[in-house]
Amino acid sequence: SKYQIAVVVGSLRKDSFNRQLATALARLAPPEFSFTQVRIDDLPLYNQDDDAQQSAPVLRLKSEIAAAQGLLFVTPEYNRSIPGVLKNAIDQASRPYGKSAWAGKPAGVIGTSVGAIGTALAQQHLRNVLAYLDVPTLGQPEAFVHAKEGLFDASGNIGEASRAFLQGWMDKYVDWVKRHA
Ligand code: FNR
Repeated sequence: SKYQIAVVVGSLRKDSFNRQLATALARLAPPEFSFTQVRIDDLPLYNQDDDAQQSAPVLRLKSEIAAAQGLLFVTPEYNRSIPGVLKNAIDQASRPYGKSAWAGKPAGVIGTSVGAIGTALAQQHLRNVLAYLDVPTLGQPEAFVHAKEGLFDASGNIGEASRAFLQGWMDKYVDWVKRHA
């Protein structure tokens, strides 16, 4: 595809709603876009001593990001912030200093939560981190998705009630990536 998107899911859980959301969202994009969920569960915990010799999983992550024209973060909220596994992945690929893989890659931030505010605070924290990393992040529309019955249909597509809204979100995301890629 013309536009390859590296998708970072902030949950390692097998049945993660956020992973399901990432998969369903990808189906709303035009054919010139392809989405790949990058692996973050085998990354070591970030240790600055390793900067001179980054491990194979870190180098893999960095090359996947480097090859992508855009980023999509789909994350749950843990204790009113982003999960540690996501922050670890972001930190790993941001180093060594001056060799960040993230800089300049257009991004979308979205997430789903069983809680009523649907990851709003996690997304806000993530936007702070991405701003520092020089990642241009789609500002509007915001999407705080409540993980409730019917969010996905039996085929894993976005359910009826949220489809028009999330299609609108995806259309803006696609424009955003094209503008910055
Ligand atoms: C949560 N959950 C949660 N939900 C929320 O809306 N705000 C929060 O601050 C938290 N905090 C939190 C901390 C921890 C450690 C866990 C495990 C969970 C609930 C969370 O929304 C729920 O577990 C989602 O299902 C997680 O997303 P995945 O794994 O389904 O993608």
